[in-house]
Amino acid sequence: MANDIDTVAYDMADGIARLRFNRPDKRNAMSPALNRAMMEALDELEFRDDVGVLVLTGEGSAWTAGMDLKEYVRETEAKGLKGTRSAQRESYGWWRRLRWYQKPTIAMVNGWCFGGGYGPLFACDLAFSADEAKFGLSEINWGILPGGGATKVAVELLPFRKAMYHAMPGEPIDGKTAADWGLVNKSLPLAQLKDRVVQVAKALLEKNPVAMKATKDAIHPVGAMGYDDAEDYLVRAQEAANSYDNDGRKEGLRQFIDEKSYKPGLGAYDKTRG
Ligand code: ACO
Repeated sequence: MANDIDTVAYDMADGIARLRFNRPDKRNAMSPALNRAMMEALDELEFRDDVGVLVLTGEGSAWTAGMDLKEYVRETEAKGLKGTRSAQRESYGWWRRLRWYQKPTIAMVNGWCFGGGYGPLFACDLAFSADEAKFGLSEINWGILPGGGATKVAVELLPFRKAMYHAMPGEPIDGKTAADWGLVNKSLPLAQLKDRVVQVAKALLEKNPVAMKATKDAIHPVGAMGYDDAEDYLVRAQEAANSYDNDGRKEGLRQFIDEKSYKPGLGAYDKTRG
């Protein structure tokens, strides 16, 4: 188990957990051990009071070079269908867990991001990349289709022509292009990446955490609904959020309407006084 755990690492500062792919010598390729370790780390961090935002990044020159083609593909397949299904569950499992994480999540893409890496990339609520990073659906280059959700991620995030062009020639794009295309929110020089992500994380930390979870959870299902269903879902989602915290929003209204101490259009109410 010690080996599994070494494949990921995390540290904490000022309410921000920085969770890292930690196989730099293998360009942070996702081995079965790494996938198990990621699930464990997500478990450990999710409900800690000192974690308000989770940032997912990579050690060394890679964010992640995708699935480990030796351990995850060749060696796992050698164990037969049971081995394959179990390895798939472990990887898809932590990406799904991340998609519905309790705390807001930010992908901080410091370097290479290929293939299976699009699973955790999409799972994070926000994504910032280094201009120097390289993104690619490289599956076609070694002879498979972009599976494990990668094609779906391309179609969710990119317009049709770009999704086709990304998947078919297997040509990597840099961080700036990834931002232009919508794979990430923004790209900036690697030297500035961490400061910008910390700045965004701190802005998220100021918000009401119940409203934050309700907000990010609403984005995924509403995208697949018609207007009436979405309207109904959102009414119920707000009422469900109120059952966890009905005082926060009232305090937010009080500080604006009665106290006039902030403007909601420009920033958050002071939740420490709620
Ligand atoms: N799976 C297994 N091992 C990997 C992977 C991977 N995805 N990516 C890198 N490695 C290993 C290399 O085999 C090498 O191992 P070694 O030191 O034992 O020889 C080590 O990591 C360093 O890799 P290099 O290729 O030497 O590193 P370089 O910085 O020159 O290149 C790059 C980086 C471009 C990321 C290259 O390693 C690469 O193309 N990797 C594969 C990317 C890819 O297509 N991933 C699969 C996507 S498809 C999917 O995820 C299902």
